[in-house]
Amino acid sequence: MVFDIEMIKKVYAALPGKVEATRKLLGRPLTLSEKILYAHLYAPTTAAYERGKSYVEFAPDRVAMQDATAQMALLQFMTCGRDKVAVPSTVHCDHLIQAKTGATEDLATAVDTNKEVYEFLSSISNKYGIGFWKPGAGIIHQVVLENYAFPGGLMIGTDSHTPNAGGLGMLAIGVGGADAVDVMAGLPWELKMPKLIGVKLTGKLSGWSSPKDVILKVAGVLTVKGGTGCIVEYFGEGADNLSATGKGTICNMGAEIGATCSVFAYDTKMSAYLSATERADIAALADGVKDHLRPDAEVYADPSKYYDQVIEINLDELEPHVNGPFTPDLAWPISKFAQAVKENNWPEKLEVALIGSCTNSSYEDISRAASLAKQAVDKNLDVKAEYTITPGSELVRYTIERDGLLNTFDQIGGIVLANACGPCIGQWARHIDDPNRKNSIITSFNRNFAKRNDGLAATHAFVASPEIVTAFAIAGDLTFNPLTDKLKTKDGKEVMLDEPTGFELPAKGFAVDDPGYQAPAADGSGVQVIVSPTSDRLQLLAPFAAWEGTDLKGLKLLIKAKGKCTTDHISMAGPWLKYRGHLDNISNNMLIGAINAFNDKSDSVKNQLSGEYAGVPVVQRAYKAANIGSVVVGDENYGEGSSREHAAMEPRHLGVRAILVKSFARIHETNLKKQGMLGLTFADKEDYDKIQEDDTFDIVGLTTFAPGKQLTVVANHKDGSKDEILVNHTYNEQQIEWFKAGGALNVIRAQFAK
Ligand code: F3S
Repeated sequence: MVFDIEMIKKVYAALPGKVEATRKLLGRPLTLSEKILYAHLYAPTTAAYERGKSYVEFAPDRVAMQDATAQMALLQFMTCGRDKVAVPSTVHCDHLIQAKTGATEDLATAVDTNKEVYEFLSSISNKYGIGFWKPGAGIIHQVVLENYAFPGGLMIGTDSHTPNAGGLGMLAIGVGGADAVDVMAGLPWELKMPKLIGVKLTGKLSGWSSPKDVILKVAGVLTVKGGTGCIVEYFGEGADNLSATGKGTICNMGAEIGATCSVFAYDTKMSAYLSATERADIAALADGVKDHLRPDAEVYADPSKYYDQVIEINLDELEPHVNGPFTPDLAWPISKFAQAVKENNWPEKLEVALIGSCTNSSYEDISRAASLAKQAVDKNLDVKAEYTITPGSELVRYTIERDGLLNTFDQIGGIVLANACGPCIGQWARHIDDPNRKNSIITSFNRNFAKRNDGLAATHAFVASPEIVTAFAIAGDLTFNPLTDKLKTKDGKEVMLDEPTGFELPAKGFAVDDPGYQAPAADGSGVQVIVSPTSDRLQLLAPFAAWEGTDLKGLKLLIKAKGKCTTDHISMAGPWLKYRGHLDNISNNMLIGAINAFNDKSDSVKNQLSGEYAGVPVVQRAYKAANIGSVVVGDENYGEGSSREHAAMEPRHLGVRAILVKSFARIHETNLKKQGMLGLTFADKEDYDKIQEDDTFDIVGLTTFAPGKQLTVVANHKDGSKDEILVNHTYNEQQIEWFKAGGALNVIRAQFAK
């Protein structure tokens, strides 16, 4: 047993009381999301929170991290002084395995290439009480669904498709590493109270249609931005008819409409899946509080009163969909797809069809896809496109191998890839004659932006259910409609594919030989965290220095950034990703994408010590060597984009003392505060224009730093003149403590040292 049953018992024991208190507080019946959110407040409240407005502190039950984002999160966690994580947490090695030849070889290569990262993650997990899922064990979201998700829980995960766990009635939210650090360290986790979108499902799926088509349809309705800041709650008899894993697929792809997360109410399908995955005891506990794991009856009766937006989909009428290319919200019912392909001149020939991934590799998905593969064999059909299968976990892989499904795929030339992200995240060494040739692929994954799967801009990637992907693999042609069109057999006869059939759960139960799990040491105090001092991918962190207790004087302007400056401008991705666990190395990308307002160039700023122009990190390192702090000046919405904590850690590491901007993206502003940086905004935005290239700054008022009290930044110009600029900040008492201590983790460390 890898899950923490005691934790779940505690959550359920408190649930009835908390739900009742929330009903009283809000004075009305509750949706499921409200029940779960209010049951997970970090501290009780006496006032209702306003959806879409109030920032709320939560106490999640779990944390899950994938191997790319876990590195910096855990390096930071190490500095907080705890001997164990504050909530149950897991690490999953899935993102760093490249698909090239097939599961066995690819896994062996990854284990070799990423040895130091895996050793680090394994040892640090062992030390701090974190469950560690080895490379090959599976994809984070599938493993979480099989082992950790539980109805009514709240979890965060450092990956955007964390909401997959909504298939088991859990609010599961994708976050950045910094949030994971907070929760593991025992700090509250902050989220703007989401708005609620209700999706009412009526009827029942049949024939070629599958749960994937529900979310492909929803994506078409809501578009890639329609779910932003919202939880999508599915309800209705149609919802209760879907398998738990099908619900997981729908919740997974809620990320494609920007939703905070998606969720289904607890039902018998969830209970069946929990039992099938050896968690009948959780199902029994959930049954005991089942009314609290569903919306109140009044909500069903009049949903528009309780949700901010309601959409209705009749599953009886839902056609299979194909979405794409280049965006997941370009939704085509299958009856319209062939025409769209022709009219838009998309390449008709299908080159590769890929099924599986965290989104669609349930037993139901695989068995339905295999029923089509079997027809190809039985009906003497050629399979025209390359075909790959990515199992979501070793549990699934082992079970489908035992049941002969992998053998069926083998008969049509299918290649089984490692139980890992692989082509879903671009970890795919695709064999293609001309990388610039326009070509089409189709996957049962979730994202299909340009270059996402194979890094090639000319690839047109479409998304569909595993059944439709398999039918297209057989036809090798995107103008084929499996519901209406015939195929030619090898001996020239015309045949049609029958509707796919499959099994929601394996008749003989799930089985696995080695699931790939490493339980942490009961007492990790003697465990050594393995980081080679010569590694260029990993570096242990030293706590940042505390504030010196005085106003800051003589800070040089590092860059006055002009226009958009996202976290990608501040800490670029791409080739830099491999340094995510090495703060000093990745700091060489600091602000290299930002545009210098004085010369309109990127990565070219004046070194005030030498008068020469050089790259931003180079100049900053020169200031650091001379023991001189600096200031970054920015425009509107500075730090928008991802929640990447590196964008705050790099300037901190290299000695930038303050970021002074017209306005901040909120998450980045909070990340700066957590790292002990000063994030300031111009009280008068026009003062941005007063900043000159050779400015030296003093920041005045820090000795009386207080919430709501302005500070002054004195800009000393080269000609001897100066401007006294009033600046605002949003630090509360606690955040001022973070600043003084040199960062939030230093505050926690001090508490544990007492
Ligand atoms: Fe991995 Fe793709 Fe899912 S990258 S976590 S399989 S979205």
